[in-house]
Amino acid sequence: MTSGVEVLISENEIEEKVKQLATEISETYKNKELHLICILKGSVFFTCRLAQFLTIPVTIDFMSVSSYGDGMQSSGRVRISKDLDESIEGKDVMIVEDIIDSGITLNYLVKLLQVRNPRSLTICTLLSKETCRKVDIPVQYIGFCIPDEFVVGYGLDYIQKFRNLPYIGIIK
Ligand code: IMP
Ligand code: MG
Repeated sequence: MTSGVEVLISENEIEEKVKQLATEISETYKNKELHLICILKGSVFFTCRLAQFLTIPVTIDFMSVSSYGDGMQSSGRVRISKDLDESIEGKDVMIVEDIIDSGITLNYLVKLLQVRNPRSLTICTLLSKETCRKVDIPVQYIGFCIPDEFVVGYGLDYIQKFRNLPYIGIIK
């Protein structure tokens, strides 16, 4: 354990959950192909691990978004700093997120991607802070619901650090 970080969800718990989600998703998308959209940088670790456990054909693309405004609060306006490389038209698409907090980022992203005419569009997030939700968006796959604490690890950062922790922790 890194000093100053308290474990909230262990490496083993995450691994089991990711396997479980992958099994469920593979079953739902049986006989289909799934196009994963990894939202940089936070969901890199989650997307990679999830993809490894999926038993259906998978393609992966990356998108980088950041919300305008001051550090910790979403402003509601989202800037795309790296768009997708490939078209999503006619594809079964799944947005893979690290965490949903207010839901503002994802709400914006869903609207933006819907107009590109995917065959289907679903959301899979490792973490969800349900009590913080300001925008109601349907999320099909949720790893863990967590309390309103600032967490790091497994891709999540605090000023770009701690992404490499193999567990989810709370900064003390
Ligand atoms: P939302 O628009 O409020 O849902 O913001 C979601 C984004 O805020 C995530 O993709 C993260 O980048 C960031 N975020 C929200 N909560 C945390 C946290 O506890 N730790 C690290 N990043 C967070
Ligand atoms: Mg993020």
